[in-house]
Amino acid sequence: MDQERQYTETQVESQPMPMPKGGAKGCLVEGPLDPCTLVIFGASGDLTARKLMPSLYNLFLHGGLPDPCLIVGVARSEMTNENFRERLKNGVTENTGHDLTRWDEFSRRLFYYPAEYDSLESMSALAEYLRRLDREHNTEGNRIFYLATPPTVAGPVSDLLARSGLSAEHQNGNGWTRIVIEKPFAFDLKSALELNSVLHQGFDEKQVFRIDHYVAKETVQSILMFRFANAIFEPVWNRRYIDHVSIISAETIGVERRAGYYEKAGVLRDMFQSHMLQLLAICAMEPPPCFNEDRVRDEKVKVFRSLRPFPVKELDDYIILGQYGPGEINDREVPGYRQEPKISPTSTIPTFAMLKAYVENWRWQGVPFYLISGKRLPRKATKIIIKFKRVPHLLFSNTLPGGVSANRLTLGIQPEETIHLTFETKNPGAQFCSRTVRMRFDYLQDYQGPVLDAYEKAILDTMKGDHMLFWREDGVELAWEYMMPLIDACEKCLDPGSRLHLYPAGSWGPKETERLLPDNEWTS
Ligand code: BG6
Repeated sequence: MDQERQYTETQVESQPMPMPKGGAKGCLVEGPLDPCTLVIFGASGDLTARKLMPSLYNLFLHGGLPDPCLIVGVARSEMTNENFRERLKNGVTENTGHDLTRWDEFSRRLFYYPAEYDSLESMSALAEYLRRLDREHNTEGNRIFYLATPPTVAGPVSDLLARSGLSAEHQNGNGWTRIVIEKPFAFDLKSALELNSVLHQGFDEKQVFRIDHYVAKETVQSILMFRFANAIFEPVWNRRYIDHVSIISAETIGVERRAGYYEKAGVLRDMFQSHMLQLLAICAMEPPPCFNEDRVRDEKVKVFRSLRPFPVKELDDYIILGQYGPGEINDREVPGYRQEPKISPTSTIPTFAMLKAYVENWRWQGVPFYLISGKRLPRKATKIIIKFKRVPHLLFSNTLPGGVSANRLTLGIQPEETIHLTFETKNPGAQFCSRTVRMRFDYLQDYQGPVLDAYEKAILDTMKGDHMLFWREDGVELAWEYMMPLIDACEKCLDPGSRLHLYPAGSWGPKETERLLPDNEWTS
């Protein structure tokens, strides 16, 4: 097998890039951003502390926030501005290595407002409060409502924003108004359709930003550049040359403190309906006519429309589900999923899935896409492996009875931000032996500017009003439509556990995966 071969590695040389005009700040934003207030619902939650606030602070440190820019946290609990600021400071300290010397300067723009998510009175009082802040800080009434809340809260909050006059643009003292909805977008197709309809009672589609932080990762954005800014890859990016594609998101973490959410979602809703399908679309889409938010999203939507529906009666040929049991990761013993706090000891929720998908169009007919994601695997690794076909005729069959390996292109997304290409060369020496070598490019090689993490990029794009990296209404509905028969079949069959294979934490998932994808290169 290929991964048993020894690779000789060559580094790709790149020309150092000149810094853009304006230094570090110039890399972040083109032109000034409008002043605005970012209103975060779910401000006392995990996402705000772990992701949003560290991202906002880092943007501030790099001069990437508009001026003025206020951040108003909204949640149900009572808290003073001072308590809120202190709490977020602790979150930033715990979750990042950011230099906190400018925290006080940053925190002067943080405010807290307690509100009920189901009370019009409470939302109208929030509207008054925001108008007062606008007047005092000249934010021109431009607002982003970021719903860092569970999917069930998005509909009611959006409805109240509309009814309290906060959704309409350029009226009642409002400037532009945008709403950001976290993933998962609703819980299934039916609730996604309902949520879209509730959203559109107050907001136009152009005001809606359905976030998927995977799409905002630097290395994911770079795939489009790799595919469409190089003349040599696109001609081989099709069924004639590609044997199969594996898209992998392996995590070492378990369910953490998210039992309540995960017991309802499981890996299919948590990772596949969103992140994994976005990665598939980016790999499989046709070149758009131009780099414009709607033209790019049109092409992704075409991929979702071309996905072959799962044959529900033969599901075992298309999906392997797993759940982690007790095991060891990085020399540390970890409990199984059913032993985690607040998880049912008889839970049949999958924490791992491998599925085989087909895109039915001329480019991809017959090429399987394996989507693989799981928790408590041995290593954190998100990557896409393009496995090319073998040469059609091996003229070295006398000297190389074992044949040669097929070329393999690996787009490393995280934590390894690399691109690898393997190819065959002659081993030096009198005999005609082959060896597989690997050409490697590091994403940050020769770059010295600031690096944006996915949430920083998504926040910045919302401030700019750029939808390129966000789900559009039709896309998110098609993604649910594709996943629903699978989710239903796995959840509603008489014995949902029968399709669920246990795997020890720290292993590469259930051994049954070999039946679906015999080569285990995805684990290397
Ligand atoms: C989130 C999922 O969307 O993505 C989590 O809800 C998962 O379960 C996380 O752990 C993975 O994100 P990343 O960026 O760490 O790969």
